[in-house]
Order: sequence, then C-alpha cells, then structure tokens
Amino acid sequence: MHGKRILLIVGGGIAAYKACELTRWLRKAGASVRCVLTDGGAQFVTPMTLAALSEQPVHTSLWDLKDEAEMGHIQLSRQADLVVVCPATADLLSAMATGRADSLAATLLLATDKKVLACPAMNVRMWLHAATQRNVERLRADGVTILDPDEGEMACGEFGPGRLPEIERIGAAIRAALSGPGGLAGKHVLVTAGPTHEPIDPVRVLANRSSGKQGFAIAEALAGLGARVTLVAGPVALATPRGVERIDVETAAQMLEAVEAALPADAAVMTAAVADWRVEAATEKLKKSAGPPALTFSPNPDILATLGGHAQRPELLVGFAAETGDAEAEARAKLTRKGADWIVANNVAADPMGGDRNQVTIVTASGAERWERLPKDEIGRRLAARIANALESDQA
Ligand code: CTP
Repeated sequence: MHGKRILLIVGGGIAAYKACELTRWLRKAGASVRCVLTDGGAQFVTPMTLAALSEQPVHTSLWDLKDEAEMGHIQLSRQADLVVVCPATADLLSAMATGRADSLAATLLLATDKKVLACPAMNVRMWLHAATQRNVERLRADGVTILDPDEGEMACGEFGPGRLPEIERIGAAIRAALSGPGGLAGKHVLVTAGPTHEPIDPVRVLANRSSGKQGFAIAEALAGLGARVTLVAGPVALATPRGVERIDVETAAQMLEAVEAALPADAAVMTAAVADWRVEAATEKLKKSAGPPALTFSPNPDILATLGGHAQRPELLVGFAAETGDAEAEARAKLTRKGADWIVANNVAADPMGGDRNQVTIVTASGAERWERLPKDEIGRRLAARIANALESDQA
C-alpha cells in the first residue's frame, strides 16, 4: 500500500461519509489519495472534508478550468495505481456500465486505463433491481472488480444487502486489487477447525458440539484472498472449501502433529474446539454389564500455546475462545497465557455452538473490538481481510 496512488470517486449516498474514514485509513496505510466528488456526493460530504483528510485538492467539476490548467481529467485518471468508486451509487454503476461521460466522475471512469474497484452501497431494492444487477454483471464482464455490499440494517430502515462493507474489508479489497490475485497471495495460512474426538473404547468417543462452520468459513475467505490455506479439521460434516488443502484428523494429538507438519506458516487461526483431556482408551469395547466405567483422564497438548512458543511461530497467531461468562476478560487472559496475537472471543451462552451466526469480540494487546452479531461467513471475510492487512503492514 505504501506509496500507492488511489483515485477515490465518491458518489452521492449516505455511505459517502464512510469515504472520509476510508481516506484516513488509506493515508494511514501509506497510500496517497486524490478524491473526486460527484454532485450527489457533495450533498453528503464537503470537498473541504475530503481535502483536509487527503491533503490534496478535491475535484468536483468537469468544467473547472483551474482543474484543467493544473491537471486534465485524462491525466487525473492515469496518475493513479487504482481507481476506487466508494460509495458506488446505482447511478454511477449505470454510468459506468453504459459508458456515459456526463460528469467528471463518469468521464474519469471512461478515460482511465487503470483497474477499477467499485464498492456499491444503496437501498436494498435498488441493489436487487434487475437494472442494477444487469449493470453489475456487465461491469464484472468488463473487468471491473465489484465488492459485494454487506447485508444488514440500512440507514433507510430496511434490511438486506446494500450496505457498504466495513473499512477493513474495503482496505483488503484495495490491497488485493493493487497486489494482483489477492492480498494474501504468496502467504501460507494454517487453520484448525471442528471438535476433536478422544476415544474411550473402539466405539465411543469424548466429543463436543463444535460444527467447524466458523473455521471452514475463515479458510474459504483466506483462500479467496489468494492465500495457500491448510485446514486441519476434526470430525465434521462439511464440504472442503474451494482452493483449500484439508487434512482430516480425529484426536488432539493428531491435530497437533498435522499442525506442526504444516509449518512454516505466515499466520495460524486456531478455531478448533480441542478436547482438553484424553482418556486412557480401552482396546476392547466396554460392556454395560461391567458397570459404570472409571475413566482415567490425562491432559492433551495445547496446540495454540505450543505454536505460541514454537521456534517456527507464525508471524500472526490467532486463537478463539468460546465462553459462557465474561468473554472479553477470559480472552485477554488466554491471549497472554497462550502467547497469541489476537483472541476472537464469542459468547456461546448467547449463540450456542453449531449455529450460523456469532457475536465476536477481537481482543488484542492494544484493545478489544466488539463486532455486531453476524453470519459466520461474514465473520470469515472480515477476519481474512484483517489478517491480510496485518501481514501487509508488518512488511511495510
Ligand atoms: N486450543 C488448542 N489446544 C487445546 C485447547 C485449546 O489449540 N488443547 C486453542 C483453541 O483452538 C482456541 C483456544 O486455544 O483457539 C482457546 O481454547 P479454550 O478451550 O477456550 O482454552 P482453554 O485453555 O481450554 O481454556 P478454558 O479454561 O476456558 O477451557
């Protein structure tokens, strides 16, 4: 991101205020930003705001002679590494799809020879309208990258897809667009998922309720950003995400062995609900007639903690903590105890294991960030974006 030049076209929608946040975010990441504000955009944010945040003049009109004297619109569209349209309104998408050139923004989009990333944000009905979907399809076919909007409650009170994704995700999409196939291209990420099964005898096991859905969603999102992903999975009934190398294991000991064999990795995300104890397993089936069995437990290795102190410790180590009490406090204790960089805490009393949604809090050495309750695949995408950003900024 360092030294990259972004041309940011800000359309006229309520999400325009987030373009201000995005400008700040990009500046902090080391990029330079030149903003173009449509007439509609100027109804929501002022040129002054964007100029102050970008520390660059803001361009608004096709007919501004001063702009032409200083920098023509062709030049403006070429002196960038990436053009980002955020928010991309229904009108801007339509202009882009049909090649209209009736505003500075539309003209720049027609004149540019650079990659374009559009981040649509609009009312759910407008987004789902056949005309908008047709425009989006057309634009994708033309080579424009479209960041799908988020689903959720909208400023207008309706619910559904159409919301601008959070800044970290837009940032990751920008990074990905700048670096080619994906923001995690060339990176190896290790993910553990699901429960472990600890045998009691040849037919019985000690298990837990983990479904593996969250870990699989994370693995899929990481692969989507171009990472090479090794997914070490306990016994789960899930299909392998596209582009992911999956290693199936049963016990905690096998999981540790598979994880160590997969090193080195740039990052590791340990979502598995690993059994803390294993049982001295009987070689023959325990018979009911022998009465209640006395099970002898011994501790399992802690895979996350082992990686935390490993000679080949991944640069970024992320653990999970399923809690029923004060999730944040428990997560903070685990962060130190296990030598992790982030702990993703979730309250399994509110969202029982196995569901499709989670409310998580990301706990790091510098603070905690509470996310709203989200579908697990959305949490996967957000976490993958954050991982891409963290690995990238460490290199900068
Ligand atoms: N973990 C692990 N190996 C273990 C146990 C846990 O890698 N044997 C990892 C999990 O994948 C998760 C994190 O450690 O990322 C937190 O697991 P948790 O079971 O909540 O931690 P415990 O140390 O077992 O804490 P508790 O006292 O709450 O059971």
